[in-house]
Amino acid sequence: MQIAKRLDRLPPYLFVDINQKIAELRAKGEDIISFAIGDPDLPTPAHIIEYMCHAAHDPTNHRYPETAGLPELRQAIAEWYEKRFGVILNPDKEVLPLVGSKEGIGHIALCFIEPGDIALVPDPGYPPFPMGTILAGGEPYSMPLKEGNDFLPDFESIPEEIADKARLMWLNYPNNPTGAVAELDFFEKAAHFARQHNLAVCHDAAYTEVTFEDYRPPSFMQISGATDIGVEFHSLSKTYHMTGWRIGMAVGNAGMIEALFRVKSNLDSGIPQAIQHAAIGALRGSQNCIAEHNAILQQRRDKLMRVLNEVGLKARVPKATFYIWAEVPQGYSSVNFTKKLLDEAGIAVTPGIGYGKEGEGYIRFSLTISDDRLEQGISRLSSWHARKYHCEER
Ligand SMILES: Cc1ncc(COP(=O)(O)O)c(C=O)c1O
Repeated sequence: MQIAKRLDRLPPYLFVDINQKIAELRAKGEDIISFAIGDPDLPTPAHIIEYMCHAAHDPTNHRYPETAGLPELRQAIAEWYEKRFGVILNPDKEVLPLVGSKEGIGHIALCFIEPGDIALVPDPGYPPFPMGTILAGGEPYSMPLKEGNDFLPDFESIPEEIADKARLMWLNYPNNPTGAVAELDFFEKAAHFARQHNLAVCHDAAYTEVTFEDYRPPSFMQISGATDIGVEFHSLSKTYHMTGWRIGMAVGNAGMIEALFRVKSNLDSGIPQAIQHAAIGALRGSQNCIAEHNAILQQRRDKLMRVLNEVGLKARVPKATFYIWAEVPQGYSSVNFTKKLLDEAGIAVTPGIGYGKEGEGYIRFSLTISDDRLEQGISRLSSWHARKYHCEER
């Protein structure tokens, strides 16, 4: 048996590794408090589950679904985009439900990347952007997200020959892992750059609803001509705490949507229909749960920010996402500081290097942890800091 060479370039998925380490320590009886994974701890709201249970009893939902999703779901997605962003989409041509947005993010490279083609990816960034590119035989080219530039890419620093060779450009705001946000003027700049170099834009908007203090992030689809040049990936995962049900969507350019549909219809058989009905219920039902979730996350954010300041870990206060991107102290790498926190405080975080080389020097805390565990984590961080730590080689 021989594993295909393309897998040689594919590292184990970041969280598979982290989860395994945490499981090993827990198996030894250690009480690890994990701030590592971005997976909402609060349950899916009851009214959404009700839609799913009701649909699960209907035998018409027991058969293979269509890859294109229920027409009613595509319509509900289009309505949601219009209500939330004022964006008008054709539900039959410009909307495609996904088995979670990660699925579409991974597959879209197959539509646009020929072997040797370049995809511009944010660094640090969500790992499936570069990995999808690699699986399609392409080369990810990192666009550094520097703190000095508010974690936005600097298009002018991308060499002309790279931009001309690139086929896709990935963007993601509100951003994982940095928690940074982008406004419409940035999306206009990105679109201008994409038009200059004939690039297709893929914007990942998974976190637009996870926000604090009334901040309302824009959609890439709001800029004029967005549907000429790109698609946006969105998800019910973070908006409605539905990560386990696996449902998301791509919206935008009809040609890109059709290409993605062609790949998907050959590989998957759509989203279980009871889950599609739950999504329709979520998108059309009361949106109060979003503000309720965000109020809880905001309290957690503020508590964690206070202790990070106290222990000298510098971080910006995020306006959106449930992530805090903190600088590791001088003298440490992201990996050895992560290890130190795990060994000495029983606290798991994600090392920034896992998101690309520009993530070096940072760690990511996720706020998707119960209030009790957060409080315990905070007191552990305080007492660990009080015990003082010794410097290691960076
Ligand atoms: C930036 C970003 N995009 C997409 C996803 C995937 O979400 P989904 O559950 O829709 O696959 C995640 C999940 O963590 C994410 O962080």
